[in-house]
Amino acid sequence: MIRVAIIGASGYTGSESIRLLLGHCEAEVSYLTALPEECGPAEKVFPQFRGRCGLDIEPLDLDKLSESSDVALCCLPHKVSMGFVPKLLASGVKVVDFSADYRLKDAAVYERFYAVEHTDRENLAKAAFGLCELFRDQIRGVNLVANPGCYPTGAALAAVPALKAGLARPDMVIVNSVTGASGAGKNPSAKFHFPNMNENLFAYGVGTHRHMPEIEQILTSAAGRGVSVLFQPHVGPFDRGILSTVYMEPAKDVKPRELLDLYRDFYAGEPFVQVCDGPPLLKDVATTNYCHVFPTAVKGRIVAFSAIDNLVKGAAGQAIQNMNIIFGLDETLGLR
Ligand SMILES: NC(=O)c1ccc[n+]([C@@H]2O[C@H](COP(=O)([O-])OP(=O)(O)OC[C@H]3O[C@@H](n4cnc5c(N)ncnc54)[C@H](OP(=O)(O)O)[C@@H]3O)[C@@H](O)[C@H]2O)c1
Repeated sequence: MIRVAIIGASGYTGSESIRLLLGHCEAEVSYLTALPEECGPAEKVFPQFRGRCGLDIEPLDLDKLSESSDVALCCLPHKVSMGFVPKLLASGVKVVDFSADYRLKDAAVYERFYAVEHTDRENLAKAAFGLCELFRDQIRGVNLVANPGCYPTGAALAAVPALKAGLARPDMVIVNSVTGASGAGKNPSAKFHFPNMNENLFAYGVGTHRHMPEIEQILTSAAGRGVSVLFQPHVGPFDRGILSTVYMEPAKDVKPRELLDLYRDFYAGEPFVQVCDGPPLLKDVATTNYCHVFPTAVKGRIVAFSAIDNLVKGAAGQAIQNMNIIFGLDETLGLR
């Protein structure tokens, strides 16, 4: 059994990681940590685990981590995470980091978008980028994986086949996404408070969202040439899920059938990407690690849709998929 620690277990992605790992037949939750004020028996902090998880959530002790665990899922906020990850690695465990701290390969871009100095460039240089379907070969056996952002996961899975095949032009890819309220984590704010969220829908981060350079980095790497992205996120009145619509200028005349065949070939054999016959629904992927994709052509443009669960394929599920790849396990364990 692979022994898995969850650092920041009291948050949304931490508890989602516990939920998924309870159904994994070759990995077990071995150590749960959080800030002291959030500690206690896991089944008291999260009553949904009553009778299913006998562990306590405890303040992090690096010696205990080293003795108890083979890998840590680090579910901390960006900026905080890069203060912890070097210590986790030095304890001898492998790390899948959920934050943005190890995703952007150019530290200067990170510093511009996150407005903070990057304090762990050494590990940034070594981290694999964990979008499993695109970079699987770079993930096997590594010590540190940067789990991708939730929006970038959905956007990239919708855009990459057309870009990689040279069917879409790289100079302007437009990504329009809507997420649910859990994307902002467990701590409430006025914007995400029920009276503002309920029956509401709004755009945010216009021209500045931190996932824009991450989407550009993934698409550029997958397409093998510079890709420019305009990304516009929105929040809607639902708990979980991200629906993305990606608009691309075709490099040549392209028909809906040709796109569908291309995407079906590209994702053939991929356990977690399903190419659908029509636009995907969030409810069809809720609580799962699946991404549903549908490409078509409208008025000569390529339009590709994707739906994921932000807490699963966008976070905890993809982290476990990464963990399975790191350790050479069947990639789907704990996720079907
Ligand atoms: N939510 C999503 O859909 C999503 C998707 C992809 C990636 N992510 C990324 O995953 C990470 C976790 O997100 P989340 O939604 O789970 O957030 P969350 O619900 O706010 O949980 C964050 C966890 O980190 C702990 N924490 C916060 N500040 C800390 C500090 N200074 N020292 C130690 N622990 C600290 C929190 O403790 P407390 O319980 O005391 O607050 C909590 O356990 C973030 O980097 C986020 O960007 C989230």
